[in-house]
Amino acid sequence: MQAEEETGILLGERGELGAGHVGGWKRAHQIPTAMMAIISDIHGNYEALQAVLEDIDSLNIKQIVCLGDVVGYGPDPVECLEIIQKICRLVILGNHEEAVLKGCPPNFNPKAKRAIDWTRRILLEDGVPRDVSEQRRKWMDSCTTQTRIEGVTYVHGSPREPTREYVTPRDAMNKQKMKEIFAHLEDYCFCGHTHTPGVFSLDGFTHPSDLFDLYMLGTDEKCLINVGSVGQPRDGDPRGCYVTFDGDTVLWRRVEYDVEKTIKKIYDNPELDDFLGDRLREGR
Ligand SMILES: [Fe+2]
Repeated sequence: MQAEEETGILLGERGELGAGHVGGWKRAHQIPTAMMAIISDIHGNYEALQAVLEDIDSLNIKQIVCLGDVVGYGPDPVECLEIIQKICRLVILGNHEEAVLKGCPPNFNPKAKRAIDWTRRILLEDGVPRDVSEQRRKWMDSCTTQTRIEGVTYVHGSPREPTREYVTPRDAMNKQKMKEIFAHLEDYCFCGHTHTPGVFSLDGFTHPSDLFDLYMLGTDEKCLINVGSVGQPRDGDPRGCYVTFDGDTVLWRRVEYDVEKTIKKIYDNPELDDFLGDRLREGR
């Protein structure tokens, strides 16, 4: 299929990627990697997602990989889920999708739990036709927790615990933790989850602002690259964040969006704590 061949991504067997939302990717075939966009942690922020997708479109990038947490926290989980279902060729399971499907684990704070309970109702329960609810449930359930494409691993959290483990900039100083995580890392891995973009190597953490927003694979023998968050950045910059990747070079991009519009939706929703809006303004 011409469209699939133009993806330029080496793919494993369909099952390896998780069923359901890998489109026509069927058999492994190696051709040069086309430019792709890697997005993560949209968290039901429709305005941020739209702005990031416009930016991706302006770069003429056709391949989009999503590292999970499409929903949770934000006011538009249905819209964001439907867009991601349509446009992404690969979606990794996030801990918020997992919480929608299976319930919140004990480490979820009360504000996050309340948002997930509302998200579950609006996505799967309240007035949602049975077939739509089933389709959404099956789609989320079919998201893989990690995969490897052309020698690069994709997870939501970490290569050791793909869905839930946080690897924060502060962890970079915890040599033992980093050593254990890197023992699970073959070479290069993209992740999200902490909403803080940057690169972890065994030498430490570097924020994109100290890299001119650019990192070349091969600079370190092994590295964990956080793509940042589209819909709830936490590095002090409220703009949506994602990366482009051509097989060698990672480029972080920041995209302004109508933050106040999203915040108003959160304030107007009694099921979502105002704090979830306040934090968007400050990028924390
Ligand atoms: Fe997240």
